[in-house]
Amino acid sequence: MVILMIIGGSSSQKLAANIAHEMGDVLCPLESRKFPDGERYVRIKGEVEEGVVVVQSTGYPQDENLMELFLILKTIRDMGISNICTVIPYFGYGRQEKSFNYGEAVSADVVCQLIEFAGASSIYSINLHEQSICDLFKIPAYNLSAMPAIANYVKDNVEDPVIIAPDKGALGFAQEVASLLNCQCDHLEKIRLSPEKVETKPKNLDIEGRDAVIIDDIISTGGTIVNACSILKEHQASRIVVSCVHPVLVGDALLKIFAAGADDVVGTDTLKSEVSNVSVASLVADALK
Ligand code: R5P
Repeated sequence: MVILMIIGGSSSQKLAANIAHEMGDVLCPLESRKFPDGERYVRIKGEVEEGVVVVQSTGYPQDENLMELFLILKTIRDMGISNICTVIPYFGYGRQEKSFNYGEAVSADVVCQLIEFAGASSIYSINLHEQSICDLFKIPAYNLSAMPAIANYVKDNVEDPVIIAPDKGALGFAQEVASLLNCQCDHLEKIRLSPEKVETKPKNLDIEGRDAVIIDDIISTGGTIVNACSILKEHQASRIVVSCVHPVLVGDALLKIFAAGADDVVGTDTLKSEVSNVSVASLVADALK
């Protein structure tokens, strides 16, 4: 597909510009503002032709970013464009992909259907919370991995690291980074020492005196990472670097993580934050090419 125009929504302006730069494509100006009563106004201010990429993360404020995305997509579709590639670097509502209790809304499914209805013809996202979200779309949907970009950061900033998953669920991410860097990895696990005593520690490796890099897909409240930092401190890691794909960072999450002993925290620019220092622009550009 020949890409002609990149349109960045409010939540992903710089990333959209970087993707356009990587691809040598045009960045389309967009006017997006709120009416005094809070309703959203959107106007596409460029001459749009077939072959459009819309970039919009749907993190906080999720509902506003989603509404803006729907308005952009439907407007482009109404301009007669049929090929609208939609990049959603961070996919909001992605953690409710099934009904866990009777009567619960499956919000990921609703969001997927609305994005499709608004006009998207294909979807690219990054480290979706569940791969199965791709199956909720009828249009082609791709789940890219930012682990190579994070591995590059680790390679440039940490010598001889041990990659640590804060729980078993994140072990796949840690293994991916470790295999790219050809270094060791482990995950934290609760070990029952006696009927009364439980200890959480790296499952296989001795971490004392080593530089540990914690990796997870999302840091939200920071609770998972604070816990992991405390355990690695207890086991005398010499330095702790915390990394994630999506720095959601609710409230004082970042402060809590540093207070728990992290020496460095880094995330990608799927979401704007103080630590979004690894860009996924070339990952997205390569996938779109
Ligand atoms: C869990 O499934 C995810 O991989 C993250 O570990 C989790 O979302 C982090 O949340 P929090 O920062 O609130 O502990």
